[in-house]
Amino acid sequence: MSDYFEWNEAKLGLHVPAMDREHQVLISLMNKLHVLREKQASSGEVLAAINALGEYTVKHFADEEMYMARIQYPGIGVHKAVHKQLLAKFTGYSQAYKKDATLTDDFFVFLKMWLNAHISSVDMKYSQHAAARPKSA
Ligand SMILES: [Fe+2]
Ligand SMILES: [Fe+2]
Repeated sequence: MSDYFEWNEAKLGLHVPAMDREHQVLISLMNKLHVLREKQASSGEVLAAINALGEYTVKHFADEEMYMARIQYPGIGVHKAVHKQLLAKFTGYSQAYKKDATLTDDFFVFLKMWLNAHISSVDMKYSQHAAARPKSA
């Protein structure tokens, strides 16, 4: 069976190795969650996977924001606001799960949107800024 969330170098690769690596970790954490859902794992296992994804997301956003500051990316303010919204939505899903122990399709649609739309358009913009900068930076 192929993975539910797939890394696609042409679409998602930013050519910023540290960020590409972190995005791949995010994808593997998302896949872990999807596999647990498929095999109807216990709510304890699912919750641990949701928490692991949440914790890594916080780390990734912080790393990405530091990186954007370092390359003096002018869109950093907007990008940070988008991260805040994503995290708020994620927290909403995670709290809903704690209440009713049900993984909804909605949650996975949200994760796919995040993966495809956020990385391939919002994240892509800082990588274009990085690529256009003089190499010494
Ligand atoms: Fe981002
Ligand atoms: Fe990102």
